[in-house]
Amino acid sequence: MQIQATDKSILDWTGDILALGFYEGATELTGDLAQLDEKLAGTLQELIADEEFEGKTGTSAVTRISGPNNVRKLILIGLGKEDDIKAATYRTTAAAIARLATKDKTLGISLPLSSEVSDVAQAITEGIHLALHQDNRFKSEPEDKAPKLETIDIFGVSGQEAGINKGETIVSGVILARELVNAPANEVTPVTMAETAQQLATEYGLEIKILEQADCENFEQGMGAYLGVGQASDIPPKFIHLTYKPQGTAKRKLAIVGKSLTFDCGGLNLKVGGSGIETMKMDMGGGAATLGAAKAIAQLKPDVEVHFICAATENMISGKAMHPGDILKASNGKTIEVNNTDAEGRLTLADALVYAESLEVDAIVDLATLTGACIVALGNNIAGLWSTDETLGNEVKTAAETAGEKFWQLPLEDKYFEGLKSKIADMKNTGPRAGGSITAALFLKQFVKDTPWVHLDIAGPVWSDKPEGINNAGGTGFPVKTLVEWVIG
Ligand code: BES
Ligand code: MG
Ligand code: ZN
Repeated sequence: MQIQATDKSILDWTGDILALGFYEGATELTGDLAQLDEKLAGTLQELIADEEFEGKTGTSAVTRISGPNNVRKLILIGLGKEDDIKAATYRTTAAAIARLATKDKTLGISLPLSSEVSDVAQAITEGIHLALHQDNRFKSEPEDKAPKLETIDIFGVSGQEAGINKGETIVSGVILARELVNAPANEVTPVTMAETAQQLATEYGLEIKILEQADCENFEQGMGAYLGVGQASDIPPKFIHLTYKPQGTAKRKLAIVGKSLTFDCGGLNLKVGGSGIETMKMDMGGGAATLGAAKAIAQLKPDVEVHFICAATENMISGKAMHPGDILKASNGKTIEVNNTDAEGRLTLADALVYAESLEVDAIVDLATLTGACIVALGNNIAGLWSTDETLGNEVKTAAETAGEKFWQLPLEDKYFEGLKSKIADMKNTGPRAGGSITAALFLKQFVKDTPWVHLDIAGPVWSDKPEGINNAGGTGFPVKTLVEWVIG
């Protein structure tokens, strides 16, 4: 499938299906649209009237065009109010158009352009590819629903070819993340995650270091928290550290740390019926997005040094499993009473954060499918964001806005750390039910000394049950786009 900018007018374009975008309340036909309507004997005007099409967000109307014409079908699509237009509008509109055009070979997209949004071609490119991406790797027979689209022309964006390329590069990272999340736990294990990282390193010239169990035992005071989680698994833990270094001097040094539980059964606090144990292959969604971001960033080559860290393991049960009540010592020397083995993500991240800070980076962002409580608070489409540094928090929020990914900041309310007080160790790993995603963030904060740090709880948005917006059912690749935009700046 080829996406390209065209400098043609919609009047001269020949193809199967032409999509025309309208702002809400602006469906009067003027200029080229009026001429096109005339050429099509009033079809456009009729369709608008028949369908009572007003250009509202998420609305569309499709018609066939009879007779000998350059175009066989028309799509009218609403972008909503002009004042609300953002990159995300173009992305989701393109996704909706792509879904309406899968049976056609050539598609033309003409959307009203806004002076507020500079990267329209990039957003449209992302929307199309991500909406059409299907993961059929685990079907023995390919489904015959593959989109037939071959060429897509975008009107009015000549000169934005670089944006199309950037969009396609970011998409390659999002798709890697989706595929890692979709693959079940017998397919993506700590070992295969490390292999994937190794492949990225080889293909894109990244530095790679895999810390084996013994290396983790020897890092500072020993990664007892991370290793405690993995100790019941038959598969060895793999602590993955990929580094992207620019050619010249880096203007900044950043670390991205992704929770990488390739399966989370809860441990001896076993997940019970109804808790979604069968979905817990997605518990490496943070690590998947970290590797996806690495893939895109390595190709986009910013002037920034980036460290990508995935402390990969499984949370399993066996005679070797950590017991509820065990006390673990993290690599910074802090001791943790494990009052719930199912709060394992924070244990793995504790050591990963200490490691990230030891690299003397300017900022750390971690991302984790950390708590069901965050889903209760914010639902499935919005991730939680916590930050120790306003500037860094704002950087991530701005990047998210460009990326069209939703975050909502929650407080690092120090008082709630009281809920994690332990009688016997420095802290417990879980507190009361109330404010569960906040206490999780406060727990992580114990493992970052003074580096500006942002924590993202992505438990909701990492997965989608149905096709919606740019997503299909399954792994979404959230928040690769935000991470890439943040690093690129
Ligand atoms: N991986 C889960 C969080 C999760 C839940 C992610 C649902 C995606 C969907 C995490 O390890 C976990 O089990 N958290 C517990 C914490 C509790 C024991 C304090 C939870 O959220 O129930
Ligand atoms: Mg758990
Ligand atoms: Zn988990």
